Amino acid sequence: MAHAASTPRAPLAVAVLVSGTGTNLQALLDTVHGQEAEIVAVASSSAGAPALTRATERGVPTAVFARADYSDRAARDSALADWLADRGARLVVLAGYMELLGAAFLERFGGAVINVHPSLLPAFPGLGAIEQALQYGVKVFGVTVHFVDAGIDSGPVILQRAVELPSAGSPEEVLAALRPVEHALLPEAVRLFARGALSVDPANPRRVVMSPKSAPGVESGG
Ligand code: GRF
Repeated sequence: MAHAASTPRAPLAVAVLVSGTGTNLQALLDTVHGQEAEIVAVASSSAGAPALTRATERGVPTAVFARADYSDRAARDSALADWLADRGARLVVLAGYMELLGAAFLERFGGAVINVHPSLLPAFPGLGAIEQALQYGVKVFGVTVHFVDAGIDSGPVILQRAVELPSAGSPEEVLAALRPVEHALLPEAVRLFARGALSVDPANPRRVVMSPKSAPGVESGG
C-alpha cells in the first residue's frame, strides 16, 4: 500500500470562462490540461467566441450563457454556476471573460475563482488596460493573475510579472509582448492552486502566500 505522502493528487477539475479569442484557454489546454488539471467545462458569454472551437477540438464540453438570455445577471450567474457544478468544477478560471460575476456566484465557488489581467494591478483595472497604460505613458507594463472578488480586478494578487517596454507606441505592440507572459502565468497559477500551494496570510487577507517549494523557479527536489 502506497504511503499517503506519495499518493498522486487527482487532477484538479477546472472550468474556464471565456468571451473571445481564447488564447489563454489554449495555453491551459496545451499545458496543465491532462496533467495537474483537467479542464471539465468551457462556458462563454458569447455564442460566436472562437474560444469555444478550441475547447470542442479538445473534446471539452462547452455551453453559452449569454446575458440577454436571462432576466438578470443573477439568473445568468445561477444557471452558469449550476452547469459548472454539474461538471464538477473546483476552480473557475476567467480567461478573457468580459462579464462581471455576482457575489452569489463567487460565494458558491468560494476562494476558487481566478482571473488574468493585462496590467500590473492595481494600476489600470477594467476594460482597455493596455490602452489605459499607454495613455498614461508608463514604461513598464505587465500581467497579473489574481483571485476574483466582487470588485473589478480588485482581488488578491497571485502572480505578477513586469515587462519593460520604454518605447511602446501601440496596443498591438504591448499585447504582443504581454501575450506570452499571460500564457505562462495563468497555467502557473493553476498549477499552484492544483498543488494546494496557495493560501492567504491570516494577518493580511490581501496577501496570497505560496509554499516555498512551489514558488515559480524554485525546484521541488527532496
Ligand atoms: C487577455 O488579454 C486577458 O488578460 C484579458 O482578456 C484577454 C483574453 O485574451 N482578461 P484571450 O481570449 O485569452 O486570447
